[in-house]
Amino acid sequence: MIFLHQIFPGIWSQGKKIFTKNLVPSARVYSEKLVEFEGTEYREWVPFRSKLAAAIANGLKQVPIKERSCVLYLGSSEGTTVSHVSDIVGERGIVFGVDVSERVMRKFIGLCEQRGNIVPIVGDANNPAEYREYLGGHEIDLLFQDVSQKNQAEIFNKNAKLFLEKGKFGLIAIKARSISQSKNPKEIFREQTRELEKEFEVVQTVLLKPFEKHHAVVLCKKN
Ligand SMILES: C[S@@+](CC[C@H](N)C(=O)[O-])C[C@H]1O[C@@H](n2cnc3c(N)ncnc32)[C@H](O)[C@@H]1O
Repeated sequence: MIFLHQIFPGIWSQGKKIFTKNLVPSARVYSEKLVEFEGTEYREWVPFRSKLAAAIANGLKQVPIKERSCVLYLGSSEGTTVSHVSDIVGERGIVFGVDVSERVMRKFIGLCEQRGNIVPIVGDANNPAEYREYLGGHEIDLLFQDVSQKNQAEIFNKNAKLFLEKGKFGLIAIKARSISQSKNPKEIFREQTRELEKEFEVVQTVLLKPFEKHHAVVLCKKN
């Protein structure tokens, strides 16, 4: 039997399982389970498929997204995590999904056609000025980043400088092995954190084991 309770705005759980309310009832995005609770359909949010879900499962203490939020998501890929963010912000919110790869964008655009609150942008997160105009002057509530690049924190800071006001939140998934194959991941997380502190107050770092190896999600607040 399903009994869900809300753990964050727009996010529910039963035991260790996490769910969001399906914005497009009966549609799946990545073969996730659909369940019904009190007449509403929810989609299971699988931590092995999404770093944000993995961070929540591992104790992220705040998820700074709610109904009507405006999210800038860097590294949207085919939209697995973006689809859950889209569930949370709802019809009156908006998610700008940026990805440099035209190949993944083709599938992502299919998702955007189903979900009117996602805007696809082909762009390089290293050059935020290039896609600034596509954000249409929206005030960004949350900057999210999951790009496998050597200069992950630097990219995040560049975007934050341009798009995030003081007091707004950022969440960055750091993949240690994109930065160095040999260095201890904990040292890499410390170095990336020092870089983030140029623009942010770091609120929490969550390691993603066992869902992802050598990954952390860092929650931070713009200075
Ligand atoms: C690990 S995947 C993201 C998965 C996605 N966040 C999810 O949970 O569904 C990383 C993505 O970052 C994109 N990427 C890598 N470098 C980038 C850059 N400089 N600008 C924008 N996207 C980039 C890749 O094309 C890839 O789709």
